[in-house]
Amino acid sequence: MGVSALGYVGFEVSDLATWRHYATDFLGLMDVTTDESELRFRMDSHAWRFAVTKGGRDDLSFIGFEVTDAAALAAVAQQLKTIGVETTQDKALAKHRGVSDLLKCADPSGTAVEIYYGATEVFPEPLRSPAGVQGFVTGDQGLGHLVLYTGDVAAALKFYQQGLGFRLSDNIDMALSPEFSLELTFLHCNPRHHTLALVPAPLPKRLNHFMVQVENMEDVGFAYDRADKLGVKIANTLGRHTNDHMFSFYAFTPSGFEVEFGWGARTISEPWTVTRHKANSTWGHKRLSNS
Ligand SMILES: [Fe+2]
Repeated sequence: MGVSALGYVGFEVSDLATWRHYATDFLGLMDVTTDESELRFRMDSHAWRFAVTKGGRDDLSFIGFEVTDAAALAAVAQQLKTIGVETTQDKALAKHRGVSDLLKCADPSGTAVEIYYGATEVFPEPLRSPAGVQGFVTGDQGLGHLVLYTGDVAAALKFYQQGLGFRLSDNIDMALSPEFSLELTFLHCNPRHHTLALVPAPLPKRLNHFMVQVENMEDVGFAYDRADKLGVKIANTLGRHTNDHMFSFYAFTPSGFEVEFGWGARTISEPWTVTRHKANSTWGHKRLSNS
């Protein structure tokens, strides 16, 4: 038993106005903000997927993982309890998030984690992307993926695998020099190749990047052109990843962490065989800038 998808994420950012422009005009998310203290954006039939609030962290502020129903919520709470993580039910927060029930806890790095079922759907209001994105890949694959920095991979794996039910997809040994490589860990909870990846680095920021996937390849190209037009800085050029086969590029957000804008990833097929890779990318993804 485990969580079934990445349902929503929250960012705490220092510049709300710039983020609103970035989320809509660059990423193509639909602005559905009703309270100016918390910007909200849609990418599909869910009432919202991204919440952006003002604060000095410029980082991930919370992660929302979806479970199928009340029984799954109780089962995940029990698994977390078994590894020593207590969850707290928060009915007021559930109402604010627009979900039926919600439990909250924190991962070993201190990131707020919410587990919920019963997200609000708004099918009568079709998605209108302000940047003309034809559609994002969500559904049973959830919102996209998050790549997190952690100072303690073993503790993170215990929380995400034993507690939340994630399974290993693969590892990449990313060579930083001839003598030194970082072992990246990729985890899945549904057909998306990875919903989470862990980078073993105890950095002040918890989020390396988040990924959104579009349905059409041209929408990656259009986003690349929009970055140029809007002055959004590219972090990595177009390329294709070795493990999930995502065709994508990376850009900086106004908060310094990055977004991966992708198309065409392969999905997990059962039975899945865990493998290792020696490089992140088959081609491309050339690093242009570190900030
Ligand atoms: Fe990624």
